[in-house]
Amino acid sequence: MKKKITSLYIHIPFCRHLCDYCDFTKMFYLPLYVKDYIKHLVKQIYNLKERKYKTIYIGGGTPTSLSPSLLEELLKALYIHKGKNTEFTIEVNPETMTKKKLLIMKKYGVNRVSLGVQTFDADLLKIINRFHSKRQVVYWINQFNKEGIKNINIDLIYGLPTQTLEKFKKDLLLATKLNITHISSYSLTVSKGTRFYNMKVKEVADDISREYYDLLYKVLKSNGFKRYEISNFAKNKNWSRHNLNYWNGGEYTGLGLGSHGYEEGVRYQNSTNIQEYLKGHYIVKQEKLTKKEKIEEYIMLGLRKENGLNKESFKREFREEIHCIFKNSLPDCIQNNLLCETKYSLKATYEGKMLLDQILIKMFLDL
Ligand SMILES: C[S@@+](CC[C@H](N)C(=O)[O-])C[C@H]1O[C@@H](n2cnc3c(N)ncnc32)[C@H](O)[C@@H]1O
Repeated sequence: MKKKITSLYIHIPFCRHLCDYCDFTKMFYLPLYVKDYIKHLVKQIYNLKERKYKTIYIGGGTPTSLSPSLLEELLKALYIHKGKNTEFTIEVNPETMTKKKLLIMKKYGVNRVSLGVQTFDADLLKIINRFHSKRQVVYWINQFNKEGIKNINIDLIYGLPTQTLEKFKKDLLLATKLNITHISSYSLTVSKGTRFYNMKVKEVADDISREYYDLLYKVLKSNGFKRYEISNFAKNKNWSRHNLNYWNGGEYTGLGLGSHGYEEGVRYQNSTNIQEYLKGHYIVKQEKLTKKEKIEEYIMLGLRKENGLNKESFKREFREEIHCIFKNSLPDCIQNNLLCETKYSLKATYEGKMLLDQILIKMFLDL
């Protein structure tokens, strides 16, 4: 039987300025392209087969770089696909927010926002070429709460140039005092093609990254933010249902420049070339995943979750016991206290999560 697609991702690549570390599909906001781009998206959204999605996520780039009228056009089209309990998230860059945009979000049922904060430290914000201030972040968090959009994530990065553990601790302590439900935090990665790469900025060494991570985990845990995925923490189980669908190996539709989708076992990628995209040449690559690739992905994502992966679901999906497939690596990793299991699940321990790459190399040798 054909599986229902429950999640929809929409990519808005436009930004009012480009961040030095960002490797996502992005480009400067060019009014000439933006209007046409939204027209293409809206047409695709109206043509979607699924009537309602459990989660809708608008990411970027900078979705809030859109003018109020274009934002409204997009949200109005998506509203048709929103059910009663749909989690409807939009990424927000604080310096591009206005009251008008907030009211439009509210009108069309956005109920979760994700703010790209990265750090509250004014000097660090300058270094990474971000144009918001701590004051703006606090202001918009208050405004969202006031308007009833209370499911709020902030993104923080650690390992930034000139950042110290003390500065990161300050960021974390401030974050935990805000009226938010969720914090995502990743170590800085420097990818080819970014300005940081050209400036020869280096990623922090593994042992330093580990110190940042231990601090992140400790401060968030002691302030009521519980880890549910390696880099994601939530208060009162306000987990990102959209991201959980990815981590559970679920399928999703991806629309917009450079976005990925996964439907009926086929992974596809949308063009990263705006001119091609605006000619209607959306999908440029498609591949049917093999059973081996599916298993690898299931393990890789599943072990990132605090609850690990469900052994029964694994068996249902792949028609084999997980222990039969990983007959050498599982006992070894369990004995070394990197993995642990309960009756129903297989999980990485705290230490295992820190050494996940090594666990995966070992496990995939069994495939
Ligand atoms: C899709 S991006 C968010 C874009 C969003 N519009 C913003 O505010 O920048 C999601 C998050 O990934 C994280 N991120 C992006 N590039 C990163 C990098 N090179 N290293 C570590 N984290 C990164 C940032 O925390 C960012 O907010």
